[in-house]
Amino acid sequence: MSTNTTDDKRKVTTSRITEMKARGEKIAMLTAYDYTTAKLIDEAGIDMILVGDSASNVMAGNATTLPITLDHMIYHAQCVSNGVSRALVVCDMPFGSYQGDSLEALHSAIRIMKESRAEAVKIEGGSEVRESIERILSAGIPVMGHLGLTPQSINKFGTYAVRAKGEAEAEKLIEDARMLESIGCFAIVLEKIPAALAARVSAELHVPTIGIGAGSGCDGQVLVLHDMLGLNKGFSPKFLRRYADLGSEVNSAVGRYIDDVKNGDFPNASEQY
Ligand code: KIV
Repeated sequence: MSTNTTDDKRKVTTSRITEMKARGEKIAMLTAYDYTTAKLIDEAGIDMILVGDSASNVMAGNATTLPITLDHMIYHAQCVSNGVSRALVVCDMPFGSYQGDSLEALHSAIRIMKESRAEAVKIEGGSEVRESIERILSAGIPVMGHLGLTPQSINKFGTYAVRAKGEAEAEKLIEDARMLESIGCFAIVLEKIPAALAARVSAELHVPTIGIGAGSGCDGQVLVLHDMLGLNKGFSPKFLRRYADLGSEVNSAVGRYIDDVKNGDFPNASEQY
């Protein structure tokens, strides 16, 4: 039997994600927001696809993740689900869809699951949103937690700088991570926190941690697809590794197309009926 999920064509489930941590296999996650890219990264063998509320930034051009709505997230998650046969699809619950009260949170999560066919939801925050997470879990909906830099709280933080550098915030993060595991979250994203803190949390928990800007001690990693493919040149934090320069590729291809149209070279005789 294969020990690496990349060679294993079976559907990835939340229990397989937990098993991967137990046997020490790192978990690879990327974002996607549409059918075509979801299909490509699923075929490449990605373990989990996050329909992130970063769609607000990279798809809609907003400065923050706050404006994206539940309807928008459901639409993006539907498109992704249509392209995926193997990876586990996780959909972010957008700002305003779960903080108000736990019943609203449950209704929002049920809409995501029913209408988009995502297989889990992700929620930002710790003790403040515990009741909402418990209510969603009680309906049989898997929840991924998200601690550290939680971009939906940008107006509270005032900056996208590294979180939990001080003792008090680090202690709260550790407590929140323990709590999220104890109530039943199947994984926890740790965003932009010191690597030593992320490694400590990862070593203590049985559920996997998925890091972004949180160092190599996490059980898995997640990046925004547009950032790692070089489609979003304006964003270059220290933690980001660029695996391609698709922004330049697109620019050059479109430039050549424009030239060919302008000088009458496209279409040629073999490209017409
Ligand atoms: O929305 C998103 O893309 C995320 C990742 C950065 C973890 O939440």
